[in-house]
Amino acid sequence: MTVDVDLADSRLYASEEPERIWQDLRRAGGPVRADEGYWVLTRYAHVESVFRRTAAFSSEKGMQLGADRTSAAMAAEAAAGKMLIVSDGAAHSEIRKAIGAAFTPKMIRRLTESTLAIARDLVESAATGEPVDFVAEVSAPLPATVICDLLGVPAADRAWISRVTQTAFGDPDETEQVVAHAELFDYCDRLVRMKRDEPDDDVATALATATLGGQPMSQEVAVLNCHGLISGGNETTRHAGSFAALSTLTWPEQWELLRAGEVAVDHAAEEILRLSSPANHVMRMAVLDHEIGGETIRAGELVTLWLGSANRDEEVFEEPDSLRFARRPNRHLTFGLGVHFCLGAFLARLEVRSLISALAGFSVELVGEPDRLVSNVLRGYSRVPVILTRR
Ligand code: HEM
Repeated sequence: MTVDVDLADSRLYASEEPERIWQDLRRAGGPVRADEGYWVLTRYAHVESVFRRTAAFSSEKGMQLGADRTSAAMAAEAAAGKMLIVSDGAAHSEIRKAIGAAFTPKMIRRLTESTLAIARDLVESAATGEPVDFVAEVSAPLPATVICDLLGVPAADRAWISRVTQTAFGDPDETEQVVAHAELFDYCDRLVRMKRDEPDDDVATALATATLGGQPMSQEVAVLNCHGLISGGNETTRHAGSFAALSTLTWPEQWELLRAGEVAVDHAAEEILRLSSPANHVMRMAVLDHEIGGETIRAGELVTLWLGSANRDEEVFEEPDSLRFARRPNRHLTFGLGVHFCLGAFLARLEVRSLISALAGFSVELVGEPDRLVSNVLRGYSRVPVILTRR
């Protein structure tokens, strides 16, 4: 069976269409092939099996389709084996160990204390009684502030970083995206050099001074992974945050349970992360012939894993389209699985929990139609016009 819609077409994600298409594809059963040639996996069990079979599927040909397949493949080729997310095997585990070491317990303690205060501050400042864009005022600045703090980005550069990553991952114009990525790389290059001259207690300093296989980490590897952290940290979590605000309107009874203390904030956060699934898909290339769901995926073929679909698989989640804060177990695949499991998951969870706690004290009124992000890489909103009022 083939898919007759172009799942790589970013415009598709400006609507609620994908959820319906994914449901049809899950019902159809096994993996299906897109006209463009790549495999489409929408069922939880199939997605999970690719994540678990690390040796059979490579990330080095790129881990997402991107706005343009050719430029995404070229970018991945340039970074393969050097940037964590597009590396396999020993190179991947060495880089992961080096970056992981930068997340010291002291740093995590500092972030745990500061993130709730940042979330409260942002929500309170946005509650002016006037219409505000929740994305611009709350859900984008929260992760931007936290990741910039983690990396040691000077305060004066933070608003620029937030804007440029938004363009790099969400601008409908592909040329704008390419320019924004180049600007971000250039910034990371300057940041890492600055940290080498003036070391501080932050992750950019840790990258600038890290060792890899017994040698100092090269400037190129440090810059690529600095870019990976800024973009990973900035772009994904904001969509879970915007979804949380909208969910107060779609599922008010769930928020009442939370306010009454009948469900834990941690569980509510997991359910927000499941249903928002900000990372829309990830991609692998098969390096061995492999059978999944009755189809043989041949070495050299591309496989796309649709996380929002796997997280709505009715074989795993009861009433999958409903938000249920008490859902247990909640083994969503929002952060992936296996060796590439999201390195920033602890941070994203902390941010979503903090935002939920801060939002619980406010009412959200929608004052216009939210704009969905036009992107096949990320699923979320570019604008959510609301009035926030203290309860
Ligand atoms: C809700 C927020 C987030 C979501 C949905 C998300 C999603 C993901 C997913 C699905 C992967 C696996 C990719 C693959 O298997 O190819 C991943 C990896 C990664 N994420 Fe996140 N992420 C989030 C937040 C963050 C944050 C806050 C950071 C930065 C601190 C971050 C940094 C990374 C990095 C560096 C990797 C690569 C890990 C590796 O390849 O070993 N992410 N993320």
